[in-house]
Amino acid sequence: MISQKLLSYTLYSKCHKYVQIVQCRNIQVTVIGAASEIGKNVALLLKLNSLITRLHLYDDDNTVHGIGLELARTPGGPTVTSFTGDNFLPPAVRYSRLILMVSRIPRKLGYTRDQMLAANALPVQKICRTLPEHNPDAFFAISSNPINSIISFASALLNNYKTFNKYRLFGITNIDTARARALLGNALNVNPRHLHVPVIGGHSDNTIVPLFSNILPSHYSITQNQAETLTRLLRKSGNEVLNLKVGIDAATLAMAWSINEFIEHLLEALCGGYSIVNSFTANPHFGTKFFSGPNKVGPTGIIETCSSFVMSEYERSLLDQAVPIINREVAQGEDYIREIEASKYF
Ligand code: LMR
Repeated sequence: MISQKLLSYTLYSKCHKYVQIVQCRNIQVTVIGAASEIGKNVALLLKLNSLITRLHLYDDDNTVHGIGLELARTPGGPTVTSFTGDNFLPPAVRYSRLILMVSRIPRKLGYTRDQMLAANALPVQKICRTLPEHNPDAFFAISSNPINSIISFASALLNNYKTFNKYRLFGITNIDTARARALLGNALNVNPRHLHVPVIGGHSDNTIVPLFSNILPSHYSITQNQAETLTRLLRKSGNEVLNLKVGIDAATLAMAWSINEFIEHLLEALCGGYSIVNSFTANPHFGTKFFSGPNKVGPTGIIETCSSFVMSEYERSLLDQAVPIINREVAQGEDYIREIEASKYF
């Protein structure tokens, strides 16, 4: 069971860069959805990562070749290869240690995250059908909304294909901790890079539960009023961006930034170290099948999921309200498989 103390220590250690990377060679990463706004920005950030040897960019949209060529002709970093079309999905994913799937279809004004299931399920399904034969052992990290349903959907599909590994499937929810840190940094007037705030629950308006009572380093704290204000701001951050972008696009740059930070942590683990990532992951400790929070990852996958936190009364009541919503949204993902069984991918 992951203890609060261990988590605090590990987060604090990371904060002070004590993470040890024991061995690292030959890491290939695939980005699916690389021609999307989020995908191309993540690809650029990953091109700067010295732990990656080869970067594979895949998208159904053949402009991915232009993005691939641009990055291939920037000096340094991983070699870049682009792929498009169903026939090229297997070579795009084969031999990758880490497969990242980003949303190709951004949320538009008027849509809540849970209404994105129909838009994002089919591309996820396509990858889930490819992995069993071509790369069953990779870490598979998904950032497509609605995370609370897409992860249960992907798990159930992979389970049907006898390839589900609960230790290697991650819903990326680092955006919530990244925003919590930024908001808190402003409130405390300190550099947010030195702050940690666990954010638990799920990734939809009423399931994001930041634990401002657990700030690290622990000599920082905020008042109850501040915690309530920051929680409200955090929960509406995605919608605020969408409104200010006049409904054309949800957050893409912040998503890319936070996905890149998440991938950096997974790469540290794949290279023989240990790290903590904020992910929506199989986790039975809070009364749901899947749950988002800080989880410990090692070279073979998740080693410990978060299991308990000391919470304020306010945080406890937010969590109590979130749990039935998460359960409903997880069930929606599992149920959705039946609805698409007749789709062209079957
Ligand atoms: C976010 O939180 O910004 C993302 O989930 C993207 C979105 O649709 O809001």
